Amino acid sequence: MNAKAKLTVLFHRDEIDAMVGKLAGNISREYRTKHPVLIGVLKGSFIFMADLIRQLDFPLEVDFIRLSSYGPGTTSAGKVRVEHALRNPIKGRNVLVIEDIVDTGITINFLLDLLRQEQPASLKLCALTDKPSRRQVPVNIDFRGFTVPDKFIVGYGLDCNEQFRNLPDICVLED
Ligand code: IMP
Ligand code: MG
Repeated sequence: MNAKAKLTVLFHRDEIDAMVGKLAGNISREYRTKHPVLIGVLKGSFIFMADLIRQLDFPLEVDFIRLSSYGPGTTSAGKVRVEHALRNPIKGRNVLVIEDIVDTGITINFLLDLLRQEQPASLKLCALTDKPSRRQVPVNIDFRGFTVPDKFIVGYGLDCNEQFRNLPDICVLED
């Protein structure tokens, strides 16, 4: 862990809690009777997914996909690869993708295109955070949490070089 890293809290754990509750309410209204498959994008979404599904009290399934879009560091290489595929087919299912952050949009755009080819009954996106100032490709976020400034954020699952995922708050990593 970089001992010199300067972290500033952007969203305190209580605010995150409230936002997850709000998103869960909106998701429940839409999916209560639809037996959806929630697909978390690893690794960043794992904490969000864990908190979110415990606020959804209807039948659902969970799967994860692992993509890599970044080399080391904090800048996008603009390349996406599937490193760990889905476990079960999603054809005919109502699919909700769970993301930690939409930044340039390249990763999620790639993933949504990929999933669409499998012919789900419906395909929507929930993102805990959105950094619209950096968007390179348009992305429709159906369930959006926090809008974040053009800063690198860590914590609550989000990392920088695999560090800081364990922070309970979402913090700005100052350089
Ligand atoms: P995108 O393809 O640029 O939209 O971003 C893809 C991935 O980069 C996200 O799913 C995150 O895992 C990671 N990422 C982008 N911005 C941040 C950030 O501020 N903090 C941590 N990870 C980020
Ligand atoms: Mg991610």
